[in-house]
Amino acid sequence: MNPYTYRNAELYCESVSLSHLVSQFGTPLYVYSTQSIVDSCRSMQQVMAGSPHRTYYAVKANANPALLHLIAREGLGADVGSKGELYLALRAGFPPERITFSGVGKQDDEIEYGCKHNIHAFNVESAQEIEVINTIASRVGTTAGILLRANLDIDAGGHAYVSTGKKQNKFGIPSADIPGLLRRASGLSHIHLLGIHSHIGSQITSTETFLQAARSLAHLVRNVREAGLTVQELDFGGGYGIDYHGFLSHPLLPQERPELPGFSAPALLASIIPVLASTGCRLAVQPGRSIIAQSGVLCVRVLYRKQTENKVFIIVDGGMNDLIRPSLYHAYHQIVPVTLRETPHEQVDVVGPVCESGDFFAQDRMLQTMERGDFLGVMCAGAYGFVLASNYNGRLKAAEVCVDGPAYSVVRERERFDDLQ
Ligand code: LLP
Repeated sequence: MNPYTYRNAELYCESVSLSHLVSQFGTPLYVYSTQSIVDSCRSMQQVMAGSPHRTYYAVKANANPALLHLIAREGLGADVGSKGELYLALRAGFPPERITFSGVGKQDDEIEYGCKHNIHAFNVESAQEIEVINTIASRVGTTAGILLRANLDIDAGGHAYVSTGKKQNKFGIPSADIPGLLRRASGLSHIHLLGIHSHIGSQITSTETFLQAARSLAHLVRNVREAGLTVQELDFGGGYGIDYHGFLSHPLLPQERPELPGFSAPALLASIIPVLASTGCRLAVQPGRSIIAQSGVLCVRVLYRKQTENKVFIIVDGGMNDLIRPSLYHAYHQIVPVTLRETPHEQVDVVGPVCESGDFFAQDRMLQTMERGDFLGVMCAGAYGFVLASNYNGRLKAAEVCVDGPAYSVVRERERFDDLQ
């Protein structure tokens, strides 16, 4: 069930009106729904339940400590991409044996930190990295679990910046090199070889693309085993998309249909799991966006309505420094009024105050006539939103609030000028 609904033309997150939250905490303001996060954790776990598995939440999608704590409490593990994320995951209560460390450029101190905490595994991206991990694990006096990240040379579609599975991308090890490297790694004294990993990209909604990757991985596992090596774990990574279109509908909103009616990441996964499970490996996935994107909304306030010869600009107080996805990937986010009115719709650009023409949330979008002081919600902003925020233009980072039924709490204070120094 969608925790965002209109009641008497007022947008609510669970049982709290967004008008109330913005009047209390100001804007720009990130608001998250607990129910949405808990529901998506549970449905992801349910779909994996048939096979031995682990679900590692990709911390990079949203690293707010309170939200991490919520996800850890749901029993998920964490996939981290840096020492900072590992620190946050440990502090949020993810047990080390439920943590993996991915990333193409792990630094020595990051590997050491992971080794000292005895995390479950490092997802390794190059031959040299295996040697470095072995050396550091030996110095720390431990054995490091590793999975090799295979580059399956699969075009996952979508924006080039979030595609990671093609051979020209920096990620992973060519499949053909995996058996040889596994053999070499199996001879190293402080390496515990666990299996194979892949992550082909992000915001992928094509089952066929994932099936292709799953088949290619299963094939690789068979090859490796025929070569006499053991593979116990298969980590299929993340990348399960969401539908950013038509998240909310109401008679007073411009009509916007879902692009993928009935689509859900767990349903997508359900059709891929049999292929992965056929290997008999313990399975793992690393969803980020599909756990947290739809839980979040970025609330902004209208500063000005400016009409030029060609355009109407709705200038709001949040910008690309708060949510960079539209600027960086031309990503689509539904934008809705926090308070609906029966006014005509007009075509507008919703833009921020930052000194860049790329600072927009939407272009040529239909919206009810907005007045100075009105509030807008940029929907599905829970993933890759606040985590990518910056202080560009001397702007303070937004506050974050988490709603749980009728209750809410500030889970990150708005920055103050002192934070800029
Ligand atoms: N595992 C690894 C190794 C990853 O690199 C990522 C995301 C994930 C899991 C989680 O992927 P997800 O399920 O969230 O798609 N900033 C971009 C997305 C970048 C994704 C980076 N890696 C965006 O806003 O669309």
